[in-house]
Amino acid sequence: QQQSTDASDAAALSAVFQRWGLRYGPTVNPCGTRDWPGSFARNASVGCSCDGSPVCRITHLNVTGYWNLTEIPPELFNLTELVSL
Ligand SMILES: *[C@@H]1O[C@H](CO)[C@@H](O)[C@H](O)[C@H]1NC(C)=O
Ligand SMILES: *[C@@H]1O[C@H](CO)[C@@H](O)[C@H](O)[C@H]1NC(C)=O
Ligand SMILES: *[C@@H]1O[C@H](CO)[C@@H](O)[C@H](O)[C@H]1NC(C)=O
Ligand SMILES: *[C@@H]1O[C@H](CO)[C@@H](O)[C@H](O)[C@H]1NC(C)=O
Repeated sequence: QQQSTDASDAAALSAVFQRWGLRYGPTVNPCGTRDWPGSFARNASVGCSCDGSPVCRITHLNVTGYWNLTEIPPELFNLTELVSL
């Protein structure tokens, strides 16, 4: 079964990436994406909870490897199921 991402979560993540200067937008389906570009895969990750549903919510965002990010973009608060950053 193909996993898809909640549309509001996907839009928020895309906006956050844009603010951070990370060019992975539009990330239509981050929860179903396995092939992140090498540099992103090394420095960051996106975690989702699907809970038996085909539509997944973004629950974890790890950008530990990007030492240059200092801003908390307002769109981050649109990720309403985020439990860890
Ligand atoms: C974030 O949520 C606000 C309020 O619901 C909405 O107006 C805005 O378009 C959202 N932004 C993104 C990037 O999803
Ligand atoms: C952070 O570093 C990444 C990788 O070099 C770059 O793509 C991004 O634009 C930088 N972001 C900021 C806010 O400096
Ligand atoms: C976050 O990603 C880094 C690699 O950038 C990894 O070393 C670290 O274990 C990750 N942390 C979590 C909580 O997943
Ligand atoms: C990404 O992580 C590598 C180490 O895996 C590090 O050398 C590089 O500076 C990091 N990139 C950014 C933009 O922080």
